[in-house]
Amino acid sequence: MNVMDMDTVSYDESTDEVVIIDQTLLPGEIRMLSLSGAKEMWDAIYLLQVRGAPAIGVFAAFAIYRLAKDMPKDSFEAFYEAFQKQKEYLDSSRPTAVNLSWALNRMEKVVLAHESRPVEEILKALHDEAFLIRDEDISVCRRIGENGVSLLSDGDGVLTHCNAGKLATIRYGTATSPMYLAKEKGMNIRVYCDETRPLLQGARLTSFELSASGLDTTVLCDNMSASLMKSGKIQCIFVGCDRVAANGDTANKIGTSVVATVAARYGVPFYVCAPCSTIDLNTPTGDEIPIEMRKDEEVRSMWYEKPMVPEGVKIYNPAFDVTDNELIMGIITEYGICQAPYTESLAKVKAMASKID
Ligand code: MRU
Repeated sequence: MNVMDMDTVSYDESTDEVVIIDQTLLPGEIRMLSLSGAKEMWDAIYLLQVRGAPAIGVFAAFAIYRLAKDMPKDSFEAFYEAFQKQKEYLDSSRPTAVNLSWALNRMEKVVLAHESRPVEEILKALHDEAFLIRDEDISVCRRIGENGVSLLSDGDGVLTHCNAGKLATIRYGTATSPMYLAKEKGMNIRVYCDETRPLLQGARLTSFELSASGLDTTVLCDNMSASLMKSGKIQCIFVGCDRVAANGDTANKIGTSVVATVAARYGVPFYVCAPCSTIDLNTPTGDEIPIEMRKDEEVRSMWYEKPMVPEGVKIYNPAFDVTDNELIMGIITEYGICQAPYTESLAKVKAMASKID
């Protein structure tokens, strides 16, 4: 089984289940999970069996559609009440990636637009919207790749942090899309993946999918990227994002802001790859982005036979940090590369995307 041949998230119409690759088992095992219950869907997001902002959005759309199929069908009011309850429940699984609420809000809009129609018709419309969100993700990521690859030259070294790859979307990824397209064009690039403590998305996932695609791939510990940048081996940095605020401040996996700060020191261009679904104009600056705090055990003991932090010592474990907009050379979207002042350039691309939002 090659992970590149499978969609990260899909819907099996024959069994009425949402199907995901269980990312907690990678790279050792490729196992598909088929889900139909609310609790197991919530857990799948919280436990990072499905993860990465765009993949979470597509998953949430399929999940709420699946749950809607079991909701009361005798009146719109009863259906909508159940819909809102499950929507809120799914939305509570992780706070930072705005794609989760973005996709659920899109699905709710479909429900409200069909208020006067029979529930069976609402379900059909929800089905179509969920599949549309999936299809859009594929084309949006491809377009981000087309815009991003224009920044690369043959022989470049490219650094990335966490996994903003195929596994975080449906196919191309966001930060990895320019890399895949560079390969398609016959360019030779070297990709360096930060291992990404504490959950190792770079080591376990990004290096797995890039090497499976034949890209020249190297993993480094997070604290090694400064020496690599200083030595001149990195020409460009591409990262993903979980939420871009209206002023361009960007939340992404913890450690991203360290990479951006070091990149500024050594003059390496740092780019954020962002589908418009991850740009949140309702969040004015990074200070207002909710940052998920995760369990101590991820740092203390999860990857070790014995705990590596003495008992009684406190653990600091935020899942994300915010990179200040001044450190970002450009935000690569499906509608082009936004540059400072971001308040203007992001509003412009969001307006272009607003037809589907
Ligand atoms: O905690 P995770 O693994 O869901 O964090 C994911 C990231 O930080 C990604 O970079 C981000 O969601 C963008 S994915 C295209």
